Amino acid sequence: MMQFTTRLLANRKISSDYHQLVFEWDGGAGTPRPGQFVTLRSESGIDPLLKRPFAVAGHAGGQAVEIIIQIRGRVSRSICEMKPGGTLLMTGPLGNAFPMPVENTVPVLLAGGAGIGPIIFLYRELTAVRGPVRAVFGFRNVESTPAGFLESIAGDGPVSICTDNGGTGFRGTVIDYLRSRIPPEPGKQVMYACGPLPMMAAAYSCSESRKVPLWVSMEQVMACGIGACMGCVIRTNGKNPFARVCKDGPVFNAQEVVWT
Ligand SMILES: Cc1cc2nc3c(=O)[nH]c(=O)nc-3n(C[C@H](O)[C@H](O)[C@H](O)COP(=O)(O)OP(=O)(O)OC[C@H]3O[C@@H](n4cnc5c(N)ncnc54)[C@H](O)[C@@H]3O)c2cc1C
Ligand code: FES
Repeated sequence: MMQFTTRLLANRKISSDYHQLVFEWDGGAGTPRPGQFVTLRSESGIDPLLKRPFAVAGHAGGQAVEIIIQIRGRVSRSICEMKPGGTLLMTGPLGNAFPMPVENTVPVLLAGGAGIGPIIFLYRELTAVRGPVRAVFGFRNVESTPAGFLESIAGDGPVSICTDNGGTGFRGTVIDYLRSRIPPEPGKQVMYACGPLPMMAAAYSCSESRKVPLWVSMEQVMACGIGACMGCVIRTNGKNPFARVCKDGPVFNAQEVVWT
């Protein structure tokens, strides 16, 4: 993990509220893996740009990282309004990564809303080594859906899009899609999910009834981002009843998380 000044190389609006941003990467920081994240803040170190966590969605030869940002509030908006050439302080790669599926298991990838970044990174890595992988992406409505972007990364893989109102793709949530379109294969499937908490809790309930493992990337509001402040803890079933999302995660075995 390193902190360095990064330059914005490209900024593309891919739907009403999502941007694809490419930042310079310092090769000395190592190569990020799917599930890991970076924090971004302004170089001046004072408001208006406080440090914020964003998952890595891809990287190019140790020289650039891609991030998919949903405009939610002040900081995500100001990053999405940046022009190429602008600079920020980046720290990363942070946190742990998704474990790769063991041989002869079929991965099923589920992403909701701002959770698409780490799932896209995992999708890219898995399709590169294993060929087509099943991935399902859910958004509120057609305006919010980065359909062209998802089609461009899909290649041969079966990428499915869901919207709550059916404006494009399947009508319903990614969990509705999972239940109705992807048959369970106990002992043969492994699921990966990132998205809003209710979506991941529902994915957990499906994984339990299907008797397949589920890895989740948790989102939590963060302060330090490096394990020092305990500002991002979640409740877990392990020996220690709490875990820090930034340091012990963000990827957890869903059975370790207390969902209620
Ligand atoms: C490990 C990790 C990876 C993330 N990866 C991405 C990513 O790839 N793309 C992306 O768009 N976002 C990602 N996020 C969420 C991102 O950090 C927040 O959207 C961002 O910090 C919001 O800052 P803001 O100033 O724009 O919004 P604020 O004004 O701070 O908040 C706007 C709204 O967003 C909510 N919010 C703020 N931070 C978070 C958070 N961390 N988790 C859930 N809700 C939050 C607030 O409660 C509020 O309702 C990630 C978060 C974590 C912890
Ligand atoms: S944000 Fe400080 S411990 Fe996680």
